[in-house]
Amino acid sequence: MRVVLGVAGGIAAYKAAHVIRRLRELDHSVKVVPTANALKFIGAPTLEALSGQTVTTDVFDEVDTVNHVRIGQEADLVIIAPATADLIAKIAAGRADDLLTASVLTTTAEVVVAPAMHTEMWLNPATVANIATLRSRGIHVLDPAVGRLTGPDSGPGRLPEPEDIVDFALSRQTDRTRPEQSSTETRPLSGRRIVISAGGTREALDPVRFLGNRSSGKQGIALAKAAHAAGSHVDLVAANIDSGLLSGLPAGITITPVESTLELQAAMHTAQTHADAIIMAAAVADYRPAEATDSKMKKSGDDGLTLRLVQNPDILRGLVDERGRQTRLGDQIIVGFAAETGDADTTALDYARAKFRRKGVDLLVFNDVSDDRAFGHDDTMVQIISSDDGEIAVGEEFVGSKDDVSQKVIAALSAQLTHVESTT
Ligand code: C5P
Repeated sequence: MRVVLGVAGGIAAYKAAHVIRRLRELDHSVKVVPTANALKFIGAPTLEALSGQTVTTDVFDEVDTVNHVRIGQEADLVIIAPATADLIAKIAAGRADDLLTASVLTTTAEVVVAPAMHTEMWLNPATVANIATLRSRGIHVLDPAVGRLTGPDSGPGRLPEPEDIVDFALSRQTDRTRPEQSSTETRPLSGRRIVISAGGTREALDPVRFLGNRSSGKQGIALAKAAHAAGSHVDLVAANIDSGLLSGLPAGITITPVESTLELQAAMHTAQTHADAIIMAAAVADYRPAEATDSKMKKSGDDGLTLRLVQNPDILRGLVDERGRQTRLGDQIIVGFAAETGDADTTALDYARAKFRRKGVDLLVFNDVSDDRAFGHDDTMVQIISSDDGEIAVGEEFVGSKDDVSQKVIAALSAQLTHVESTT
């Protein structure tokens, strides 16, 4: 395969050498196109020796071969590693003032961007907007790794490991070249974008205390892995999930950490704008303290403590309503979870049926938590509730690990997406 490797001018440019080496080991041809600044961090001779091809940066080099158009056109895959904030901004703006940006503009191949920059730059609203623009155009943007940066500082901004970049990029290319039949069989969500909320929200009482719940996030993580394995791009909105669990996720899943319900709501609405489907697996607090104090609450005598709580928004219902308001979101599939207990008058399943109607979702994953089996454990029992010609259809009881359940949910979701596609 002919891979074009773009290299931008950041300290991580030296890691491009490992990316080239890995691609060459896998027998791919690599045309390296650095920016002029990249060559201040890694020399052209190194890039030429490792790739076995000439290296130029300027559109006016090798003009006789119309380099600025040909390189992009001939590429089977474009990888940019590292991509700086500046290069990302240029691509978002459609600039073509050097060989790399011109090549990105002329290619029809899959483009995979691996950013590396300081945390402040990565979190700056300008970069956030540019990344969203790239993703909305189908460019695959990896999230940077979290860790030590150039100086003593650390945070999100490190270039992901070269092997992970190459593996991810090749998997995107495989999606594209795989024959239609087997692609839809093995990766039914290829080309889709699924947003998944996971974990449990925390509502601050003061700087050190919060009201929370026992959700570990394991179910949401398992869903993210299953959706990723089915070929989808996954945006995971992670409410207070242990970093050990998050670090086990495959490269390429976008993670947005949140704490409170209001933060989760904002993140979900942002992600909704470009989602084919949404799965609300997070355990969301229905109430939050009316006021959170800036300083730690002090003990005040023996009279106990009365907290006033106010109701949180129902995020799921809000997402369904937003879909109803926006015509272009009309085909979006929305999936909710319902952990229910029954009582003397009503079974847990009946409560779930009522919830399915009330929330307006396409699928509701119901689990009976009467025996306390769901939270934090490795296996669970679910039934998937859907709508069949206006009637509520309840799937069979399914018992399995959270991974098994996730496969089941992703299969049901894929079927719904296919159904929507074939009826529109
Ligand atoms: O109403 P209940 O909490 O049982 O509904 C569960 C479903 O609704 C889950 O999918 C959960 O993520 C979502 N939810 C929500 N916003 C809330 C409460 C629950 O989106 N405030």
